[in-house]
Amino acid sequence: MESRIPHRSTEWKYVQDAIHGRRAIRRYTSEPMDRASIEQLIGAAIQAPSAMNLQPWGFVVISGADRLQTYSDRAKAHLLATSNGVSSQARHLLGEDMNIFYGAPVLVVLCATSHDQQAAEDCCLAAQNLMLAAFAAGYGTCPIGFARPWLALEETKLEIGIPKEFVPVFPVIVGFPDEEPPSHGRHPARIVWA
Ligand SMILES: Cc1cc2nc3c(=O)[nH]c(=O)nc-3n(C[C@H](O)[C@H](O)[C@H](O)COP(=O)(O)O)c2cc1C
Repeated sequence: MESRIPHRSTEWKYVQDAIHGRRAIRRYTSEPMDRASIEQLIGAAIQAPSAMNLQPWGFVVISGADRLQTYSDRAKAHLLATSNGVSSQARHLLGEDMNIFYGAPVLVVLCATSHDQQAAEDCCLAAQNLMLAAFAAGYGTCPIGFARPWLALEETKLEIGIPKEFVPVFPVIVGFPDEEPPSHGRHPARIVWA
């Protein structure tokens, strides 16, 4: 059946391109990112909707591939030492040589800044905005769930300078992509016309 979405043709194409073209990028060039570009992506992130328009998000920007490499080692050690939350499949991925940040120059940690029930959902919507905007601007991104348990530790927050009231929800790496991975496809949507 032909789509009856009343679209503004140009915007529709751009949005479709970004939604379908974005991929998790796991290879980056060594080129650093400038502050203004990161701020632009965060500007897109905060256009996301939020429950009661509370906008309960904060952004921690950690720069430097070498710094992230050392954080990767520590995040991995923490994950492997704490049995909860790591499936045997994930353990298998966390080999000694594995950098969970894939050499990216920047990690943006989207954090909930309130204990509102829906703050985490709001942060995830902001993260998707950031990833789509990054794709449109020529950057690569990848969510890094593996980093969250370590980032959420009180001692890690203190060391990195993450404010106490920030709760890490969605870490995402950003940088210049050094690969163009294909889509792994999607299962057909389960739709119930109720
Ligand atoms: C909440 C969340 C956590 C993720 N954590 C990781 C991660 O720690 N490491 C990783 O390489 N990919 C991670 N991913 C990326 C997914 O593996 C990826 O999005 C999925 O395989 C689909 O591929 P695509 O994004 O290229 O469409 C995560 C994705 C989400 C949504």
